[in-house]
Amino acid sequence: MKLRRGLQVSLLLLFVIIVAACAQRAVPDGELEAARGQYSPEVKNGAWLYVDFGCVRCHGLGGRGRDLLPASGPSLVSAEFKKTFPKGAEFDGALLQMIKNGAIIEKDGVASMPAWNSILSDEEIGDIVAYIRAGLPNLNVPVSGTRTGQEIYTSFACTKCHGPLGTGGIRNQAASSPSHQIIPKIGGPGFKQKFGSREMVRSVVLHGRLVDQGRPGVVYMPAWGKIGTAAEIDILVEYIWNSSGE
Ligand code: HEC
Ligand code: HEC
Repeated sequence: MKLRRGLQVSLLLLFVIIVAACAQRAVPDGELEAARGQYSPEVKNGAWLYVDFGCVRCHGLGGRGRDLLPASGPSLVSAEFKKTFPKGAEFDGALLQMIKNGAIIEKDGVASMPAWNSILSDEEIGDIVAYIRAGLPNLNVPVSGTRTGQEIYTSFACTKCHGPLGTGGIRNQAASSPSHQIIPKIGGPGFKQKFGSREMVRSVVLHGRLVDQGRPGVVYMPAWGKIGTAAEIDILVEYIWNSSGE
């Protein structure tokens, strides 16, 4: 009898948790429509960029960060965040610099918050800052799935720095040596030869790689190990490995 009671209580608890979770996610359509109308073009563009450049993968929908995704980027709506970056032009500038330069968390050589300098223009980063300042409202930007290798390559923003598979990357303007001034191309026979095995590719994707010791302004390879699930990383590595590079 006692056991039964325990089960009932846990079921009730589970029900309450599910209802609470649904309530948190549901945004009434009317509210959404109103929101769409009331935000500036900068905020709307920022909302697109936030998804398109993979910020959403680490900081979560609505910028709720770790609350949604354990061990990923911090919340961009928490009281702590608002204390670090209070509203005001000076702190908007600090946010812009943060997004340009990234933040390296040295744990197993892991580089965590990507540096977007020269990948995103200052104007685009300004739009993202406007979106963050608006509280990262849900503006109904579609977030792609992560079923296929191509979907993962796109939604984890690999394409933003490396270009589409095999074509070669974007310029890493501030890097000191010419060999680092173009972000390497991913996929193709030369790539396969350079790495020799899937394991070597997986290792870079999981742990990232610093360029110029992470000097501000230089783009480095972010770590995706805590962002993608093991299954997603497997699919991604297989996709890269088997691509013809064309
Ligand atoms: C691979 C995961 C990842 C991606 C992608 C990512 N971030 Fe971050 N971000 C982090 C981590 C981790 C930190 C925390 C760095 C630290 O603690 O110093 C962070 C920190 C930040 C901060 C500072 C927050 C604070 O409280 O100090 C801002 C702002 C931010 N990211 C914005 C962005 C934006 C905008 C994008 C997309 C253009 C983005 N991030 C993409 C992982 C990521
Ligand atoms: C913010 C830009 C950025 C993003 C996003 C990014 N990378 Fe990178 N990646 C780099 C840079 C810069 C390097 C080069 C590091 C160097 O010069 O040694 C690199 C290096 C690599 C390498 C090693 C290539 C070589 O020839 O040595 C692999 C593999 C790689 N990235 C895969 C990926 C994958 C897969 C994704 C998506 C999950 C991704 N990268 C996302 C910037 C990025």
